[in-house]
Amino acid sequence: MSLEALPETSREIRLASYPEDEVTLDHFTFAETAVPEPGDGEVLVRNDWMTLGSVARDQMSPQTTLPIPVFQPGVAMWGRTVGTVVRSNSPLLEVGDLVEHFLGWRDYAVGNAHGFFKRDRAQLPGPEYFLSQGPTAWHGMVETAHVAEGDVVFVSGATNGVGALAGQVAKLLGAKLVIGSTGSKEKIDYLVEELGFDAAFDYHDGSPADRLGELAPDGLDVVFDNVGGEQFEAAVQVAARGARFALCGALAGQHGGPGGSPRLPLMTAISKDLTFRGFATMHTPEQFEGWNAKFGEWLGEDRIVFPHTVVEGGVPALPDTFIALQQRKYSGTVLVRLS
Ligand SMILES: NC(=O)c1ccc[n+]([C@@H]2O[C@H](COP(=O)([O-])OP(=O)(O)OC[C@H]3O[C@@H](n4cnc5c(N)ncnc54)[C@H](OP(=O)(O)O)[C@@H]3O)[C@@H](O)[C@H]2O)c1
Repeated sequence: MSLEALPETSREIRLASYPEDEVTLDHFTFAETAVPEPGDGEVLVRNDWMTLGSVARDQMSPQTTLPIPVFQPGVAMWGRTVGTVVRSNSPLLEVGDLVEHFLGWRDYAVGNAHGFFKRDRAQLPGPEYFLSQGPTAWHGMVETAHVAEGDVVFVSGATNGVGALAGQVAKLLGAKLVIGSTGSKEKIDYLVEELGFDAAFDYHDGSPADRLGELAPDGLDVVFDNVGGEQFEAAVQVAARGARFALCGALAGQHGGPGGSPRLPLMTAISKDLTFRGFATMHTPEQFEGWNAKFGEWLGEDRIVFPHTVVEGGVPALPDTFIALQQRKYSGTVLVRLS
């Protein structure tokens, strides 16, 4: 295979400083560096797609309790990315291989081949599909909440990358009723008409407990919570006896809002026999492979869709896209095309 010509420089986005509150363009800097030469055992990868999520906001806070590294000022940021090997000094990977890795926010990534995970291009419709949040959705809905046939399920933050897949997984595994919450009429229509949720409501529209009570008069069996705050409290109130809560995210507090620490009435939790299980997945290779195989099969049978938004513009578009994500402008997994 002939080697593709490389540009002289690779563009990257660095963290300028830690935001105290709202993230602005001033918190990022744009830089260009020489395209690196891979050393022994290393590969050079042209980044093709990267995904952005609220988790990057947590990585901009040195106080975060999440078990992932915090960004460092003056250094290129990182995040989940897929790309193509363009130079290889390792027997593990060949030029042309598709790899998933964490050195996003830049055009070219270099590093030990062990840090780049080979993906089978034929398994999914496009390389960007490997960036779905399916491993998290599956882990929360199936391995944490143990969704089962006939369950009534509530997914808060249902239009984001994790929630939109979690709800579909619940339906595919036989849930009787899947309800989602989201932030606009347009996103409600998206959940019901395109993703097959049975019902959805806007969490700005009155009390979430009232809305859940109307939509699930017999109570909720499974709650997949991406939000926390008032929506978590509402779900506890409307939970059926024995309900299982998978605690995935705390969006109501993650963007600096006040809703990160909801109240839990203990006597309600005790008398209803509720289970709460948080999870912070450091996904294993088996979890990725298991999800990708299932996802490919379901996509091939037209039983699932990949909810995502594509943003063009490459590396320079990343800071604006991250700010727009925080302003709730997108649905599904947010994908930036890097090449
Ligand atoms: N536990 C784990 O292992 C794990 C792994 C990955 C991700 N996560 C978490 O899962 C959640 C979803 O992640 P993601 O990357 O799929 O989503 P994301 O892209 O970060 O979600 C953005 C969307 O969330 C909604 N949102 C934002 N602020 C909100 C608020 N204050 N209240 C309610 N909804 C709000 C908005 O949609 P609306 O217009 O509907 O408000 C927005 O478009 C995040 O909390 C993330 O940290 C957890």
